[in-house]
Order: sequence, then structure tokens, then C-alpha cells
Amino acid sequence: MSPYAHITGWGMAVPAKVLTNEDLEKMVDTNDEWIQSRTGIRERHIVNDEESTASLAKDAALNALRVANLNPTEVELIIVSTSSPEHIFPATACLVQDQIGASHAGAFDLLAACSGFIYALNMATQAIRSGSVKNALVIGAETLSRFVNWEDRNTCVLFGDGAGAFVLQSGDEPGGVLSAVMRSDGSGANLLTVPAGGSHLPTSSETILHKQHTIHMNGREVFRFATRVMAQATKEVIAAAQLQIEDIQLVIPHQANLRIIEAAMRGLDIPKDQCFINIERYGNTSTASIPIATCEAIQQGRLHSGDNTVFVGFGAGLTWGAALVRWSGPFLPYRHIYPASYRLWVAIRSKLLRMVRRIEGWIWGRNI
Ligand code: ACO
Repeated sequence: MSPYAHITGWGMAVPAKVLTNEDLEKMVDTNDEWIQSRTGIRERHIVNDEESTASLAKDAALNALRVANLNPTEVELIIVSTSSPEHIFPATACLVQDQIGASHAGAFDLLAACSGFIYALNMATQAIRSGSVKNALVIGAETLSRFVNWEDRNTCVLFGDGAGAFVLQSGDEPGGVLSAVMRSDGSGANLLTVPAGGSHLPTSSETILHKQHTIHMNGREVFRFATRVMAQATKEVIAAAQLQIEDIQLVIPHQANLRIIEAAMRGLDIPKDQCFINIERYGNTSTASIPIATCEAIQQGRLHSGDNTVFVGFGAGLTWGAALVRWSGPFLPYRHIYPASYRLWVAIRSKLLRMVRRIEGWIWGRNI
């Protein structure tokens, strides 16, 4: 029997700085009434100059490890799902690996836009189910505020920054991630895109002048697509786990727009109180929205061990997907994970490794 992939830790991190709808009224031609009635968003968190996707991802990861009572050195796989990575390369996941001291982990980034957390959760689940790893960290982290055109009212009111992380651990008891679906339709790639900065349109003064390195979106088309696929993916994932809609205790959807969520829940005939919504305080944090909402659902006593939960999302690509999870909780008995002492040890370790590389460079005559 293959082992099951249980979620045993969870954590989130959002920047302290809050940008309200009233703040946006001073920046573009918009108003609080329009934003709240069309999207459900009241405020969002935005990074400052010192924060970045990796720093938010690291904080969320350490919080998740603390809940799981797992040391970073016990993690074997780190997947960071993001559309706003620290760099094109190296992967943000490698920076997180170094910063948390996960010295035994393979690390890579995954890009499936707002559906990315579901994709990453499924990839880590498959790695655990195949027996190749026992402990994995799945992180959704975004700083889309760095890619927003703050003069474009169609997009700048929507997005916020943040990160959320799950610890997945192998276990023989049935539970954890029971089924997942991942779908895509690249014919809609142009509907939501950052056109420049990649190999197709490298950054130039021309692309910067025309703001082609910022988010471009056809909101109406994305809206139509989203309302169609959210209900469909939820039904598929429930059927794949051989369950019925009545067996689901909570749906945690991607928080992109309150009206999209409400339409999807109507399509599924699921009452609103069985759906977790926190978009009003965070906006659309893309791939981070599902793990952030999960952390808050647990804090508010809405998600308990044994509950069947559906995560469902959609995003650029186009991509969409869903995962059905029987909620577990921590496996290991309480042990304190000391992030401060880890941080010190990890900084020393990182410096030592750089020093060794420099000495090797001297010895071999190729000092980089
Ligand atoms: N303030 C005031 N008016 C605005 C604003 C604003 N911020 N933005 C647009 N408007 C205006 C438009 O200009 C338009 O005016 P017009 O009729 O004079 O042309 C009017 O409001 C209606 O615009 P619509 O685009 O039809 O508004 P709609 O009800 O569709 O809402 C929205 C727009 C909120 C963007 C919606 O389409 C939406 O949420 N779409 C999905 C977007 C989404 O979820 N994207 C993220 C995907 S996840 C990822 O991968 C990152």
C-alpha cells in the first residue's frame, strides 16, 4: 500500500503594511463602493522595500514547521509556487532552503499562477505516495504588488502580497490529500499575462516605457472562465475521491473575487457558510490565497481534524484545479522549533559554504 500524504503543519506570513480602498482612491480613479461591490475587497497587504517573495515564503515555512513540530533538516522536498519569484533563476525555493537551513531538501519553483498551490500540493503528494520522500514543504508566495501597474485601475485594486505554507508528511493511516485534478488551456494565455521580461520580449527601455512588465488582464473573460471551472473542478475532485458533495465540510476557494466564489457555490448548491472567505482583508494573493485562508479557517475553528475539505482555484495560463483533503493535524509530539537559533546557525552555515567555495576557487585558480 502506498503511504498517504497528510498535512501536518500550516503557516502564513503577510506584510504589516496595509493598503485600503481609501488609499487607492488617492492613486487612481476608483472608489471603495465600486471595489467592494465588484470584488469584495476592502484592503490588502503590500510588501515594503526589505520584504520579498522569499522572505514571506521563509516566514510562512517556519510557522508551518513549528505547527508540525518538524525541524528544517528533516524536510526532503521544498516546492515554492509563485508567479512573482525573487529572480528568473535561481529558484525562490533554493533561497528558502538556504534561509531555513533545510540541508537535506531538494528545492524547485512551480509556476501555474493562482492554481499553483493546488498543483504544488499534488506534486508533493505524489512524491510522498511514491515513497521517494517522507516530509515535504509546499509554499505559495507572492509579491504581485511589484508587478502591478499602479496607474491601471482595472488591476491594481485586485492584488495583495502574502505567503502560506503546508508541511506534508507520509503516514500509513488513510487521510491527507485524497484526490486532485489539474487542468490547463493555453489558448487563453493572452487573457492574463505579464508580457515582457521573459525570452519572448526581453526587458528594454521600450517595454518599460509601455509598462509591458506589469500585469495585463481581460477581467471580463477571466471572470467568465473562472465561474465555469470552479464548480466543475470541485465536482471532479469529489468524484475522484468517490465522495458526494454532502460529504464535504468546507470549501476553501482561491480568493480572487467574491462574486466568482458566490457563483461557484451556487453552481454546487453549497451553502455560503460551508465556504471560507477572507478576500475582504487580503485581496487576491494569487497562489498564496488558499494556504492563507486555510490558516485563518483553522484559527477560527472552521476546519477540524477528519473534515473533508476541497481546495479549488483558477488562474493565468489558463490553469485551474482542485484538491480534496481529509484534514489531519500534527503527527509529532510537541517540540519547540527555535527559529532564532536556527536563523543564526543557518546564516553561519550559508557563510561557511560560500567560504569553502571561495577557497576551492583559489585552489583551482578560478575565483568567482
Ligand atoms: N474603479 C472604478 N471603475 C472601474 C474600476 C475601478 N477599479 N475598474 C474598472 N472600472 C470600470 C470599467 O472601466 C468599466 O467602465 P465602462 O463601463 O465605462 O467601460 C466598468 O467599471 C465595468 O468594468 P468591468 O470590467 O465590466 O467590471 P466587472 O464587473 O467585470 O469587474 C473585475 C471587473 C473586478 C476585474 C472582474 O472582471 C474580475 O474580477 N475578473 C476576474 C479577475 C481575476 O480574478 N483575475 C485574477 C486571476 S488569478 C491569477 O492568475 C493572478
